[in-house]
Amino acid sequence: MLAGAANPIENADLSEAAGRDGGNDHRLAFARDLTQCLAETPHIISPKYFYDEAGSLLFERICELPEYYVTRTELDLLQRDLPAMAQTIGPNAEVLEFGAGSLLKARLLLRALESPRRFIAMDISGAHLQAAAAQLQREFPTVEIIALEGDFNALDRLQGLPAIEPGSRRVGFFPGSTVGNLSPLEANRFLADSARLLAGGGLLIGVDLVKSPMVLHSAYNDAAGVTAAFNRNVLVRANRELDAGFDIDSFAHYAFYEPRLQRIEMHLICLRDQTVQIADRRFTLRAGESIHTENSRKYTVEGFRTLAASAGFTAKAVWCDPMQLFSLHWLASGVTGSEER
Ligand SMILES: C[S@@+](CC[C@H](N)C(=O)[O-])C[C@H]1O[C@@H](n2cnc3c(N)ncnc32)[C@H](O)[C@@H]1O
Repeated sequence: MLAGAANPIENADLSEAAGRDGGNDHRLAFARDLTQCLAETPHIISPKYFYDEAGSLLFERICELPEYYVTRTELDLLQRDLPAMAQTIGPNAEVLEFGAGSLLKARLLLRALESPRRFIAMDISGAHLQAAAAQLQREFPTVEIIALEGDFNALDRLQGLPAIEPGSRRVGFFPGSTVGNLSPLEANRFLADSARLLAGGGLLIGVDLVKSPMVLHSAYNDAAGVTAAFNRNVLVRANRELDAGFDIDSFAHYAFYEPRLQRIEMHLICLRDQTVQIADRRFTLRAGESIHTENSRKYTVEGFRTLAASAGFTAKAVWCDPMQLFSLHWLASGVTGSEER
């Protein structure tokens, strides 16, 4: 626990923490979800808890790793095909990026679009988001830039989204294959909610494709150990924010491709028995137990188009790199005007 701070976790009703905002409520929600994770078997925690400021910076380092083809390939695709994507999106767009991160790809999109009106960067990692959005505003002084802290798994409860301006239409941007971190049910709900939010516009979304398991394996097991540090960050965060008492070094990063579910699974394997404490509950983890921290689902182009259609989008153009590693999809949502894009 932070020196000198009262511990609001101790006496809080963790079941009420969901959906509220503010620093303490973030901690309460984390405490509630980690309690549930440790109380249940298998132990599963949402990957959103990787992303505090340190986690966001670790993810940026992952994006630069030689093994992590995902960012490099998507950036190449954007460089090559953004003129066509921008034409498809059209002028006067208001862009809403989900899970915005460093905003590196947003810069490329904003440069390619004709007269973008507004850019709303949405992310769960509040401090990192504010800094990235402020920098973007300096680079694009004529575009209104808004930082919106929120959870893309709860778009129906999203607060602070401004009304769309007359003459503009809202376009979603969801690069990075972050959609792969969602279960099929969550992905369907995210797509259905975003289709409603983006009615009359559409969603440009990056989706990682099924490929050689060896390529996938090395992408999530880099030689420098950055992905391992990113994985362990959830425990670092639990110790700092919740005073949980994990022995961080006794957890092994374990990531593998599960071909039947077409996903990378990321786990932390406990290597020695230990007891941790969340609020007033103690949990014993035995050597060999796993905490399942992330899935990264891989799709076929057709499989993703079918998923998008089942959630209410009309799957339109698809852009792929020559090696078919990665795809970017334009999904139209409930086109209202006479001109269908
Ligand atoms: C895989 S990174 C992608 C970052 C960036 N869009 C890119 O393409 O490089 C996932 C991003 O989504 C954010 N994120 C993760 N879970 C989230 C959630 N439930 N709601 C909102 N943002 C989330 C993270 O903070 C991070 O910035």
